[in-house]
Amino acid sequence: MSYEIDLSNQVALITGSGKGIGAEIASVLASAGATVIINDIMDEEMCIETLNNISQIGPNPYYIKCDISNEDDVKSMIETVKEKFGRLDIIVNNAVISVNSGASYDKMFAVNVKGAAYVTENSYTLLKESKGKIVNIVSASVFMGRTESKEYVSTKAGVYGLSMFYAKHYAKDGIRVNAVAPAVVVTDLMIKRYGSKEAILEHYKYKMPLGRVGYPKDTANVVLFLVSHMSDMLTGEVLFVDGGRMHIGHNI
Ligand SMILES: NC(=O)c1ccc[n+]([C@@H]2O[C@H](COP(=O)([O-])OP(=O)(O)OC[C@H]3O[C@@H](n4cnc5c(N)ncnc54)[C@H](O)[C@@H]3O)[C@@H](O)[C@H]2O)c1
Repeated sequence: MSYEIDLSNQVALITGSGKGIGAEIASVLASAGATVIINDIMDEEMCIETLNNISQIGPNPYYIKCDISNEDDVKSMIETVKEKFGRLDIIVNNAVISVNSGASYDKMFAVNVKGAAYVTENSYTLLKESKGKIVNIVSASVFMGRTESKEYVSTKAGVYGLSMFYAKHYAKDGIRVNAVAPAVVVTDLMIKRYGSKEAILEHYKYKMPLGRVGYPKDTANVVLFLVSHMSDMLTGEVLFVDGGRMHIGHNI
């Protein structure tokens, strides 16, 4: 006996998926057969590697440039999805900006929190039709306080709040809403904070209970589970993809 996750004929929108964890989520969902929409604030040329990789492994991806902190732009992004595909089954609220990119607290709130709310609410009608799935990428730091940025931790906490809010309000429509809380994933976000990949590995050498840092695939695989039939009874849940930091602690 074997289990299969088949997302053929499903359409998935992943915000901030031009690179990093979002790009890997898009790639894993495409491997399972989903048509993925790559959304980013970066120009298409900057996302070309992600788009090319995905077209090798699954249905052709579709790119939409949109700043999710602008609700009018989000509305037209979802309108485009409706016109082009006629459906939307999955959204992954993944896009983020951090203080290391020079963003102000207000800008971080606008992208990290309001952006996720705009994408969710403007997708509601389509998700209701498909009994869709929403996954919000939060952060284990919300639950542990282990981060240097109050702006980051509080805006990610906002996304956690939205996850529980929409899980409660959309359950009656059969829309499942869950959160994934990664920690210490090697992407540009962490490289900006520590200066290099080597510096990240050095800093966390003795701090990860499982003995290694995280990679985008670790998070993407858990997102796949949450959008699949394997998690049909899960909503309002948060899954930690942190190598045990949250529940075991890092002093080993
Ligand atoms: N890397 C980690 O260690 C880590 C840990 C915990 C949680 N996370 C979470 O994982 C998610 C992905 O993080 P990452 O490390 O891949 O970050 P990243 O900075 O590498 O990628 C973020 C992406 O979001 C895009 N983006 C920024 N502003 C946008 C906007 N206004 N509209 C649309 N797209 C926009 C960026 O262009 C970029 O492609 C985030 O939600 C982050 O908070 C990451």
